[in-house]
Amino acid sequence: MAEVGRVQSMASNTISEDTIPSNFIWPETDQPAITTIQDNNFEIPVIELNDTDEDRLVKLIAKASSETGLFQIINHAIPSEVIEKLQKVGKEFFELPQQEKEKYGKLPGSIEGYGTSLQKEDEGKTGVKKQGWVDHIFHRIWPQSAINLRFWPKIPASYQEANEEYAKYLRVVGDKLFKCLSLGLGLEGHELKEGLGGDKLEYLMKINYYPPCPRPDLALGVPAHTDMSAITLLIPNGVPGLQVRRDGGWCDVKYIPNAIIIHIGDQIEIMSNGKYKAVLHRTTVTKDRTRMSWPVFLEPPLEHTVGPIPKLVNDENPAKYKTKKYRDYTYCKFNNKPQ
Ligand code: SIN
Ligand code: FE2
Repeated sequence: MAEVGRVQSMASNTISEDTIPSNFIWPETDQPAITTIQDNNFEIPVIELNDTDEDRLVKLIAKASSETGLFQIINHAIPSEVIEKLQKVGKEFFELPQQEKEKYGKLPGSIEGYGTSLQKEDEGKTGVKKQGWVDHIFHRIWPQSAINLRFWPKIPASYQEANEEYAKYLRVVGDKLFKCLSLGLGLEGHELKEGLGGDKLEYLMKINYYPPCPRPDLALGVPAHTDMSAITLLIPNGVPGLQVRRDGGWCDVKYIPNAIIIHIGDQIEIMSNGKYKAVLHRTTVTKDRTRMSWPVFLEPPLEHTVGPIPKLVNDENPAKYKTKKYRDYTYCKFNNKPQ
């Protein structure tokens, strides 16, 4: 099957030590070497999820979600062995021969499967399609009815068990975050999750694989974007690379081992009518280390309708966003159309 186009194969076959194909060279306005700001004081909030003072926890989460749109949680009760196993099986999958990985290749029209993003956001600015230095695999991990095991790697053999185990713990974390976010808006604890489809809310796992890159000064992993999910729960490996927009530049996010990084996504910004802010972020790559990350997108089912929660809208605070089906939202976002 086609190996052409995978960043991992291209990176491992590359003969040159200091050049990369032109479709990976971003314009100067995006290049990491020019746009990264060194700010040693910049830190994203660290929140202990097992805080027994619920009021305090709600305030901390609401503040972080309104200001940075990005924070990390510790003491989240997901055992480190569960996280390590998830990372081990994901790494083993990407280290398989290319042919084996292609068995899970994306099918047209499906988000799930192994692939490489080709549509590139830079088109509007320069008329040139640019590509991120990354391959990925997507598959839903919850609810049971949304899981299609055809897209879950069979090798390594423990892949399924490791992902199921992680999903089990992650659901508890997701529920707790939605409850706090809901209370932080002055709503009842259950209202936000209910507005996202309740138990039909989907957990979409993505694994990003960023191989070493001869020109990390010119390339990007994933270009600037906000997540279209409600929230994203992400664990990286130990290699830096996540950046957020700040003071007209981009700042590196420092993460604590085994913490989970929470991104506020577009759907929560919409439902909160702008009180919570989706975080603009991107990733960079390095010359000699492979970066990997495991974001899980918590999102409404495609046919579910999302808009500002009616209780949060009034004459002084009119709706800032349209109410529409999540399917239509994703369509506009993928095709760079106005929402
Ligand atoms: C992404 O935002 O899609 C990737 C984030 C990361 O790899 O840390
Ligand atoms: Fe993202």
